[in-house]
Amino acid sequence: MAMANIFKASTIPTFIFLLLLSCNTIIISHAQTPAPAPGLSYTFYRTTCPQLESIIQQNLRTVFASDIGQAAGLLRLHFHDCFVQGCDGSVLLNGSASGPSEQDAPPNLTLRAQAFAIIENLRRLVHNACGRVVSCSDITALAARDAVFLSGGPNYSLPLGRRDGLTFATRNATLANLPPPTANTSTLLNSLGQKGFTPTDVVALSGGHTIGISHCTSFTGRLYPTRDPTMDQTFFNNLRITCPAINSTNTTFMDIRSPNVFDNRYYVDLMNRQGLFTSDQDLYTDSRTRSIVTSFAVNQTLFYQNFVSAMIKMAQLSVLTGTQGEIRANCSRRNSNDLFILPTMENDQDEKLASY
Ligand code: HEM
Ligand SMILES: *[C@@H]1O[C@H](CO)[C@@H](O)[C@H](O)[C@H]1NC(C)=O
Ligand SMILES: *[C@@H]1O[C@H](CO)[C@@H](O)[C@H](O)[C@H]1NC(C)=O
Ligand SMILES: *[C@@H]1O[C@H](CO)[C@@H](O)[C@H](O)[C@H]1NC(C)=O
Ligand SMILES: *[C@@H]1O[C@H](CO)[C@@H](O)[C@H](O)[C@H]1NC(C)=O
Ligand SMILES: *[C@@H]1O[C@H](CO)[C@@H](O)[C@H](O)[C@H]1NC(C)=O
Ligand SMILES: *[C@@H]1O[C@H](CO)[C@@H](O)[C@H](O)[C@H]1NC(C)=O
Ligand SMILES: *[C@@H]1O[C@H](CO)[C@@H](O)[C@H](O)[C@H]1NC(C)=O
Ligand SMILES: *[C@@H]1O[C@H](CO)[C@@H](O)[C@H](O)[C@H]1NC(C)=O
Ligand SMILES: *[C@@H]1O[C@H](CO)[C@@H](O)[C@H](O)[C@H]1NC(C)=O
Repeated sequence: MAMANIFKASTIPTFIFLLLLSCNTIIISHAQTPAPAPGLSYTFYRTTCPQLESIIQQNLRTVFASDIGQAAGLLRLHFHDCFVQGCDGSVLLNGSASGPSEQDAPPNLTLRAQAFAIIENLRRLVHNACGRVVSCSDITALAARDAVFLSGGPNYSLPLGRRDGLTFATRNATLANLPPPTANTSTLLNSLGQKGFTPTDVVALSGGHTIGISHCTSFTGRLYPTRDPTMDQTFFNNLRITCPAINSTNTTFMDIRSPNVFDNRYYVDLMNRQGLFTSDQDLYTDSRTRSIVTSFAVNQTLFYQNFVSAMIKMAQLSVLTGTQGEIRANCSRRNSNDLFILPTMENDQDEKLASY
């Protein structure tokens, strides 16, 4: 019998902590806050929309009070936006490969429809208060920040001033930039390394899986025809009940210990071989990332610091600034609503407002 099965979930963190006091494996140190990307700043909307952050946080408090699951949807939306052609709101455009018009979406990439509606509603509230000065990509980044904080995670300030892109992400670009849940650690380190993320960043960002749900099809390859040997037997037995066939349409929580709380229990799951995806569990199997997982499992403060640093890095990937792109009047479509018209040919009204 696997050792993990002997311990009730609630006793495991203490057990691991005691175990680690006798080993000297903690190597991860305090993370630096990444500098703002050129064109972004912490005071970007100070005069043009001082109410921005309070409007977003107040609305999301209401949204999460009735359904905390939406926090996970918003966090994942920001991740998909940033990884595919930069944080430019491209994921929000109708026609984008992962939504909101989902016809083209690879099934394993589907984002929550409600996340798009929440962002568009926030845009409406913000633009009603301040005019069309705040981009959909900034709103998405702030919503993800508040999703983490309002789920019990760390708070952090975000450099702002992103502009919205004019082209949506194609299916190919989406698939090429988002690693699949079947990826091993080598694939993750390579893929995220190309975007400038260190192994510590990769492990920290994967901690986003401490909240939210997954569809069975994202991991049933680990259940059928036989158990992935790196998966805990009891966890496997339970997942087979939730997902009785390889094509089951059911969903399950990703962090079984505290599915709706942004804490470090995801790493405790991994140490107990209860990670849902290969891309999660392999972080503990692989010797290059194992000690990072362990250090986050025993020290939540350390996880929070490294998560915040990696999130600020992610939130600044290939951003559009200054006069690039536009400030969309509707997050799901370009202002011109015609992908074949060049940005310079937009009507004067749009151009004036968008040049803030
Ligand atoms: C590193 C590679 C990553 C892979 C392979 C991956 C894969 C996945 C998959 C397959 C799902 C479940 C989709 C479904 O079946 O419904 C998922 C959900 C999720 N992912 Fe990731 N992900 C990765 C990184 C991230 C990052 C960096 C974040 C944010 C920091 C994140 C946040 C989330 C959240 C919050 C959910 C739950 C969404 C919901 O409940 O609607 N993921 N991820
Ligand atoms: C998205 O765009 C397509 C093609 O332009 C259009 O047929 C569809 O109605 C749009 N969807 C929404 C929700 O506007
Ligand atoms: C969270 O951080 C932001 C940005 O620094 C700050 O404006 C806000 O007051 C903080 N919220 C709380 C509740 O601490
Ligand atoms: C997308 O990728 C597929 C397979 O890799 C390739 O056959 C196809 O030509 C690509 N399409 C575009 C538009 O790049
Ligand atoms: C999606 O699932 C298909 C088959 O189920 C798989 O071939 C593909 O790699 C997956 N893609 C992603 C991005 O998860
Ligand atoms: C990781 O996955 C890649 C791509 O599937 C494969 O080529 C490689 O051998 C795997 N590496 C390890 C260490 O399993
Ligand atoms: C979905 O999962 C629940 C348990 O979480 C299970 O009772 C139910 O039978 C499953 N439904 C299907 C269609 O697999
Ligand atoms: C799922 O797979 C089973 C067995 O292969 C098959 O009978 C069933 O039609 C499939 N269901 C769907 C929704 O594809
Ligand atoms: C946990 O990490 C924090 C932040 O790096 C550090 O200050 C603290 O000393 C660590 N705590 C333990 C018990 O190692
Ligand atoms: C935003 O655009 C979508 C089409 O992409 C449309 O369905 C929706 O009604 C528009 N919203 C507003 C407020 O104009």
